[in-house]
Amino acid sequence: MEAAPPAMPELADDTTSIPSSRGEGDQSHHPRTLIRAIVGAIDAHDKKRVVVGGWVRTGRRSSSLLAFLELDDGSCQQNLQAVVKGQVYGDLRRLTPTGTSVLLEGVLEKLDGAKHKQLIELQVERVIDVGEVDARVYPLPKTKHTLEGLRDIPHLRPRTDTIAAVARIRSELAFATHSFFRGEGFLHVHTPIISTSDCEGAGEMFQVTTLFSQADKVEKELKENGAAPSEADIEAAKLVVREKGDAIARLKAAKVAGKQEISAAVLELEKAKEIVSSLEAERLRLRPGIQRKDDGTISFENDFFKRPAYLTVSGQLQAETYACALGKVYTFGPTFRAEKSHTSRHLAEFWMVEPEMAFADLQYDMDCAERYVKHLCRWILDHCREDMEFMVNHHDRTAIERLELVSETPFERISYTKAIKILEDADKEFENKVEWGIDLASEHERYLTDVVFEKPVIVYDYPKEIKAFYMRLNDDQKTVAAMDVLVPKVGELIGGSQREERLDILKQRLIDGGLALGPYEWYLDLRRFATVKHSGFGMGFERMLLFATGLDNIRDIIPFPRCPGKADL
Ligand code: 4AD
Ligand code: MG
Repeated sequence: MEAAPPAMPELADDTTSIPSSRGEGDQSHHPRTLIRAIVGAIDAHDKKRVVVGGWVRTGRRSSSLLAFLELDDGSCQQNLQAVVKGQVYGDLRRLTPTGTSVLLEGVLEKLDGAKHKQLIELQVERVIDVGEVDARVYPLPKTKHTLEGLRDIPHLRPRTDTIAAVARIRSELAFATHSFFRGEGFLHVHTPIISTSDCEGAGEMFQVTTLFSQADKVEKELKENGAAPSEADIEAAKLVVREKGDAIARLKAAKVAGKQEISAAVLELEKAKEIVSSLEAERLRLRPGIQRKDDGTISFENDFFKRPAYLTVSGQLQAETYACALGKVYTFGPTFRAEKSHTSRHLAEFWMVEPEMAFADLQYDMDCAERYVKHLCRWILDHCREDMEFMVNHHDRTAIERLELVSETPFERISYTKAIKILEDADKEFENKVEWGIDLASEHERYLTDVVFEKPVIVYDYPKEIKAFYMRLNDDQKTVAAMDVLVPKVGELIGGSQREERLDILKQRLIDGGLALGPYEWYLDLRRFATVKHSGFGMGFERMLLFATGLDNIRDIIPFPRCPGKADL
């Protein structure tokens, strides 16, 4: 066997280490070459010896002497054909079923483009590893699956072209997000996932509690060890304490007992008291079910945090604390909403990118949001061409055009009042009634972006009644300095606002929203001590991917969708 070539430095980012073929005991490694690197530079790879690992998309044997494997390694849309001869691997039938994983070593050979579909193929000289698939039971055979059907096999669907493309675009978008904010001088902060504040004040939160598991444990213990001590048990133990006390008093009064005798009696009294305490504690601990206070509300005394806690709906409030100290920050993390939405745009767990900027008003906020969305669109066009072409060919013919349009055209900016006027004057019957004060429904948003303006639209200055308490009250006393970025096909992509920096008004907004001030005291402190004008926004990461890929359902955008009634894996 020919010696392995040295690692190729120009492909360092495309390679992973594989034990070399030079036999046991040889500790040297040579790299696995990604198909992306090979098909991206065919001439450079001609005649090169490589190791390639991947999954067989289609495999066929021309006879027991030759097998052709179309390999997919997840690094790009294209596959690489590998040719395996019978003398290289005895049982070629094991290699050909769809889904089989193989690690192969061989020499790449450029083909004549006029005669072959493939431009380069791998002449295999050694089969290093095989992970077999029983084609009779493999849930992902060659035949096409619908995206909906694939949702039932979330653990296998990344092996399909569409889901793999979404994963690659998603990864690029995450990178582009960090590159954008870094370039703009933002600091990345990690806000908590467990939160005790309801940011949107909408009460759509998942509770984090150990009360139920504790109650289950108590139930189990009671079943196994019998009932908890009763009131009567405790009364009996208290009676013993009284008797012991009386005995000591008698001993002391008779004045005949020695010091030692009295000490022994006192010791017995202490023991009896301890028994009472432990019985009482045990009775308290072994109360079945969830404990309630006198007013009927749940008691969180025994809960993990000794107070109600939730999965965060947004990292904004915590991000504000850092913005009010470090200037420009952003957080990028999972957020959770217990809303029972079954739409193609809602998830119970989704990722949100939330920048927060001190010394920034709504105008600044809108400018930043527009630059960010444009940066993401440009990034995908520049870095995900092949996957986007796949999307155009298989899912949405206009996907690339849409990205180009958004990356180049200034967004329309209209006030909420103007948006309502346009909708009222529209030559269209909407399902949801249009009048000043409504929350825009998806059909309204889509009408503005897809029909009227045919580009992204930023709607600002919404009625205060339909927006969160933290948004800055405008001088008209009716609207708040909020803005939503609406994009074609998806509707709302971003929600943001200038934050209310005036202490008294913020307090009133909390009260008007029916929220208790207590839990928000720390938030009010940001206004009490050195208040500062500040703004921010939140972009739904999956909504951006929905917009970019042109897919129709957000459940195909996130690797493991969580929706009402569904949380697989
Ligand atoms: O408009 P929202 O609720 O705004 C906030 O949470 C603010 N605290 C953000 C901020 O100012 N820092 O949510 C922001 C975005 C929406 O525009 C939408 O794109 C996305 O998050 N979003 C969802 N995405 C998927 N599933 C859901 N259930 C979503 N709810 C909101
Ligand atoms: Mg919103």
